[in-house]
Amino acid sequence: MARRRLPGFVNEYLEGGSEDEQTLRGNREAFGDLRFIPRVLVDVANRSMASTLLGKPCGMPLVIGPTGFNGLLWREGDIALARAAREREIPFTVSIVASDSLEAIAKHAGGRLWMMLLMLRDTAVVERLIARADAAGCEALVITLDASVYGNRTWDSRNFARPLVLSLRAKLDVLVHLRWLFGVLLPRGLPGFGNLAEFLPDDQRSPLDGSRYITSQSNAGLTWEAIRALRERWKRKLVLKGIMAVADAEEAARIGVDGIVLSNHGGRQLDSEVAPIQVLEDVVAAVGQRLEVMIDGGFRRGTDVVKALALGARAVLLGRTPLYGLAAGGQAGAARALTILRDEIDRTLALLGCPSIGELSPQYVGHYEVPRRRGVELKVHTSR
Ligand SMILES: Cc1cc2nc3c(=O)[nH]c(=O)nc-3n(C[C@H](O)[C@H](O)[C@H](O)COP(=O)(O)O)c2cc1C
Repeated sequence: MARRRLPGFVNEYLEGGSEDEQTLRGNREAFGDLRFIPRVLVDVANRSMASTLLGKPCGMPLVIGPTGFNGLLWREGDIALARAAREREIPFTVSIVASDSLEAIAKHAGGRLWMMLLMLRDTAVVERLIARADAAGCEALVITLDASVYGNRTWDSRNFARPLVLSLRAKLDVLVHLRWLFGVLLPRGLPGFGNLAEFLPDDQRSPLDGSRYITSQSNAGLTWEAIRALRERWKRKLVLKGIMAVADAEEAARIGVDGIVLSNHGGRQLDSEVAPIQVLEDVVAAVGQRLEVMIDGGFRRGTDVVKALALGARAVLLGRTPLYGLAAGGQAGAARALTILRDEIDRTLALLGCPSIGELSPQYVGHYEVPRRRGVELKVHTSR
């Protein structure tokens, strides 16, 4: 439904990855290399998905992850998504480049809000955003670390004649997507960036100005020093997103952050990167006792989520999955996407012979190397 409703350039913004999209594809393919080993004759008549996340109970171990520019998919898309998250009793992460402001989301949706930040070069701006997150009652800061420069998303150059100016072909395509044209674009044009507006001059708050600003603020010189200083002063939960290496997870644990999100940014940044699910077991073995290990990247089915939980993830962040729902039907569509996922997780637990999320363990998952070339021998071995 989302694909039918969205013009091509928006669809490619939503679905696409960087360069050859090896990371993007790999995130999905990696799930195929993990196969379930179910138990039988276990009483699974009453099943539970309840768990705790960052010290609080949650309805199911899912989080809506940070995604920028949600207003491109649905008018006031961030508020719609946050309301869907609240309905399903899971946290919603506000992106620094959200279309709606953090304050508007807190006011009109509420619920468990996490605030995602990039550590911009202008530290005064970062300080101000942290103060706003504090005032809005956000329970966690999520610092994204895998976007020191913007990924090379080559499909963008196909749709745009100049930065944020659509090619003629893309403009014509917009004209045949009337629901999007009238539901999102007209009469006010594309939304700007609600969280950044106060840092931009009055007459420079268009999406183009906002993206120029954020690009100019990229901080490729960032090091662990900044995270240590942040840990000193932010007393609520601190989460680092975009960690992949065991050594970095260990440093995060040493600094005392509360959680990490194993992530390759949904294949939108570094191409040809390993999938988060492939590094999960090693990271959990190294730091799982000291902080909460979360994960994202390619989670589309309940089976995907259950595999990650069985291998030690505390929760799964969702990127595109609720966005498809949002683009198809706003708040109701996003809530529907979450319901589909919840039902799939519940059915998977039943078929796996595991009555609750808390009882999942690596014994339920075997590693299975899907042959990618002819003549490669199949290997099946259980983990741990
Ligand atoms: C449209 C879109 C916008 C995104 N914007 C952000 C962002 O502003 N900040 C961030 O940390 N990650 C961002 N991400 C990455 C997601 O938080 C998440 O890591 C990724 O989408 C997970 O992969 P999945 O889409 O396969 O679930 C974005 C992803 C998408 C699809």
